[in-house]
Amino acid sequence: MKNVMILTGAGQIGMAIAHRMGYGMTIVIGDKKPENAQAIAKTMNEAGFDVVPAEMDLSNRASIQNIISEAQKYGDITMLVNAAGVSPSQAPIEAILKVDLYGTAVLLEEVGKVIVPGGVGVTISSQSGHRMKQLTPEEDEQLACTPTEELLKLPLLQPENIRDTLHAYQLAKRCNEKRVMAESVKWGAKGARINSISPGIIVTPLAIDEFNGPRGDFYKNMFAKCPAGRPGTADEVANVAELLMSEKGAFITGEDILMDGGATASYFYGPLKPETH
Ligand SMILES: NC(=O)c1ccc[n+]([C@@H]2O[C@H](COP(=O)([O-])OP(=O)(O)OC[C@H]3O[C@@H](n4cnc5c(N)ncnc54)[C@H](O)[C@@H]3O)[C@@H](O)[C@H]2O)c1
Repeated sequence: MKNVMILTGAGQIGMAIAHRMGYGMTIVIGDKKPENAQAIAKTMNEAGFDVVPAEMDLSNRASIQNIISEAQKYGDITMLVNAAGVSPSQAPIEAILKVDLYGTAVLLEEVGKVIVPGGVGVTISSQSGHRMKQLTPEEDEQLACTPTEELLKLPLLQPENIRDTLHAYQLAKRCNEKRVMAESVKWGAKGARINSISPGIIVTPLAIDEFNGPRGDFYKNMFAKCPAGRPGTADEVANVAELLMSEKGAFITGEDILMDGGATASYFYGPLKPETH
């Protein structure tokens, strides 16, 4: 039996983190599109990793429980990487909330039940959660602590209170950060840690959909005018994941690391500042 990593989301960011952290263990990759999981499993198996692809839907609790049971056949679950998600140009409001917000919350809860001492997890949030206006302390607490099956009934998540898919995505990503804080307390009781990473624009198929979507010019302007002057790469997200998931990150838990080439800083206090927030 080996240690096991569960990777949800067979995309570029997930693969980069699995490459960095997943050597010597079994990696069970779940994706709603089995062909994505199979493609990444093939690439990684041909590079010496031990990867098992699986079909799974992050928006479905039974599907999450299934992949956890599948993973436990290979050994103890010591790592979780959640890099599954849909972006504002890929899905309607309801799907964004069901996958990115509810699904992530359920995954953190379910893996939190089985993670072993010394275990670590990261979930990929987004700079979008940082750009949205502050919520009230009560709303933040609701996102952090509401039981998972009640989450989508919260007033601030009702369709009449959500402007568009970007707003839904921002709420989902803010919720990810708050959920990680609350879950880190439970994971800590088991000797495990959980953090999130909020990337800016990282060139992946998901970002390319955004470049070609209705907000394409907005995104291209964002990376042109951010302090870094370019989009990021999945490997750079893996750099942060490595810090968070390795012994060097032993004192970091319940935290979110924003890594966006300074785009958020520029949005608030630089050339990316909109006319009105
Ligand atoms: N690329 C960026 O610029 C960027 C920036 C900030 C945050 N993110 C976040 O990073 C994560 C990974 O994105 P990426 O850029 O690597 O995208 P990607 O498109 O390369 O990969 C995402 C994967 O998630 C899978 N997926 C979608 N819905 C699913 C579901 N319900 N269940 C299981 N799998 C599902 C897709 O099939 C896809 O394989 C997402 O949460 C995204 O919001 C990306």
